[in-house]
Amino acid sequence: RKLQYTFPEGFLWGGAIAANQTEGAWLEDGKKPQATDVMVGIITDGHTPGVKYNPQTQKYEICLNPDKVYLAHEAIDFYHRYKEDLQLMAGMGMNCFRTSISWARIFPNGDELAPNEAGLKHYDDLFDTMLSLGMEPIVTITHFDTPLHLMCEYNGWSNRKMIGFFLNYCNVIFRRYGAKVKYWLTFNEINNIFRMPFAAGGVMPSHTDPDTVDFAANYTQKELHQALHNAMVANAQCVRLFHDLMPGGRIGCMIAGSHLATYPASCDPRDVLATLDARRNTFLFTDIMAAGVYPEYLRKMWKDQGIQPDIREGELELIRDNTVDYIGFSYYYSNVCNAAVGAEFFEGTLTKGSRKVKNPYITEYSPSPWNFPLDPLGLRYVLEEYTDRYHKPLFIMENGLGLDETEIPGQRIQDPERVKFLEEHLKQVALAIEDGCNVLGYLWWGPLDLVSSGTGEMRKRYGFVYVDRHNDGTGDLHRSIKESYYRYKEIIANNGL
Ligand code: BG6
Repeated sequence: RKLQYTFPEGFLWGGAIAANQTEGAWLEDGKKPQATDVMVGIITDGHTPGVKYNPQTQKYEICLNPDKVYLAHEAIDFYHRYKEDLQLMAGMGMNCFRTSISWARIFPNGDELAPNEAGLKHYDDLFDTMLSLGMEPIVTITHFDTPLHLMCEYNGWSNRKMIGFFLNYCNVIFRRYGAKVKYWLTFNEINNIFRMPFAAGGVMPSHTDPDTVDFAANYTQKELHQALHNAMVANAQCVRLFHDLMPGGRIGCMIAGSHLATYPASCDPRDVLATLDARRNTFLFTDIMAAGVYPEYLRKMWKDQGIQPDIREGELELIRDNTVDYIGFSYYYSNVCNAAVGAEFFEGTLTKGSRKVKNPYITEYSPSPWNFPLDPLGLRYVLEEYTDRYHKPLFIMENGLGLDETEIPGQRIQDPERVKFLEEHLKQVALAIEDGCNVLGYLWWGPLDLVSSGTGEMRKRYGFVYVDRHNDGTGDLHRSIKESYYRYKEIIANNGL
C-alpha cells in the first residue's frame, strides 16, 4: 500500500503531561495532598500507599514512609517553571498542549464550598501562557489526583457524595476557564479503576483490616463497582454541564488504550473468546461513556457476583443522553491473551501483569525493566476498532517511549529509538486516517522528562527535553534538548507529511 502520510488540516500536534507528575509544589499556595502524593508509583505502591487506618478514629491518616523518595512532591517543578517549559514546547511547533488541573489546588480538601483563588489564578496564568504561544490547551479534569481528604473522610468514589464534590469542581473550572479551554477530558484512564483503585479510581477500602499487609486486598468488588457507577454518573453530569455552559467546546473520556490492543494467542476459538472477554474490560468504559449503555456482559457479571450497584432513578437515562464528544486514549504497547490466562487477565489485582503472554511476532521491547512490547500496528488496531464501534472522533492523548538516558555535559542526548518509535506510530495513525478514522490529534506523552506514574521514577524518561532530576531526588532541574526534539519539530512543520 502506497503511504501518503497525510494528516487533516488543523490536526492537533502536541504533548501531554499531568499535574501530579510534573508540578511539584505539593503543599504550596493552599494545595493539600491528593492520592498520588502519598505514593511513589501507582503500580509499585499500589498495595502500600502512604496511608494508615487508625482503629481509634476509624479513619485513614497520612503516613508517609520515611525510607521512600516521593519524587512527585517536587517533581520537575513545572509549577514554577511552566513559562520556560512551554516556550520549549512551542519551539517544536506544537499547536496544542495537554495538562491536568490539580483538583486539590482548586479544592484542597475537595468538600469545601468555595474554591482556592490562588489555585485558580495559577491555571489562568498557565492557560494564558499556552494561548500566547499558539498552543490550544487540552485539559484533564482529574489525572490520578483525587484530594486525599475525600478518600480518608468519605472513602472516595465508592461514596455517592463524590458526585456532588466533583460537579462543584467542574462547575468552577468550566466557568473560570471556558473561554480559554476548548478541549476537556473527564477522568484520566478511568479503566484502571479496578487494577489501581487507589490512584486511578480515587477509592479507599471501607472494610478495613489494619493488619492486612496487602492494602489492595481490602477492596470489595461491590465497592469498586459502586465507585464505577458513581464515576459514570459524575461523568455524564459533567458532560451535561459542559454542554450547557460551553456549546462550542468538546469534552472526551480518556482510556488506557493499550489494553484494547490485545490479540488472541492463536486461532483456537477458546483463545479468541478469552480475548473478547479481556477486551471487554476496556470496551466497558467507552460502551458507557461514548455509547451511553451498561453492556450486557457487565450486567451479567453483577448478577453472577451478586453485586448489583445502587443505581437510582433517572441515572441510566442520564448516562444514555450525555455521552462524550470524542474518545481520548493512551497507547504504549500491545498484549496477548490465551484461554489459560484469559480469566485472570485483567482482574482487579495489581500484581497480575497484562503482558503475561509473549507475542512471537514482536521482537522489540522498551528497555528493561519496563519491557513494553513496541507495536505501532496496535495503535492502528485501536483507532480502527474505536471507529467501527462508536463512530466518534478520536484523540491520541498519550503515546511515547520511556528510555533510561544519561546526560553527558556538552553533548546532546541522541535518542534514535524515540525517533523511530514516533515515526512508526505516526505512519499507523496516517493509515488509520486514510481508512476513515476521524483523528483529531496526536500527543506525545512526557515531552519533558517527568516522574513516571507506574514506578515513580525519573529514570524512565519520555522527553524530547531532558530534565536533570534523578531517582534519588538529586539534580539541578536544568532542561536540555534531545535530538528527537528536532525530528518532532520537522514532522509538525510538515503536518506529518
Ligand atoms: C498513562 C498515564 O498510564 O501512562 C500517565 O496516563 C503515565 O500518567 C503514562 O505516566 C506512562 O506510564 P509510566 O508508568 O511509564 O509513567
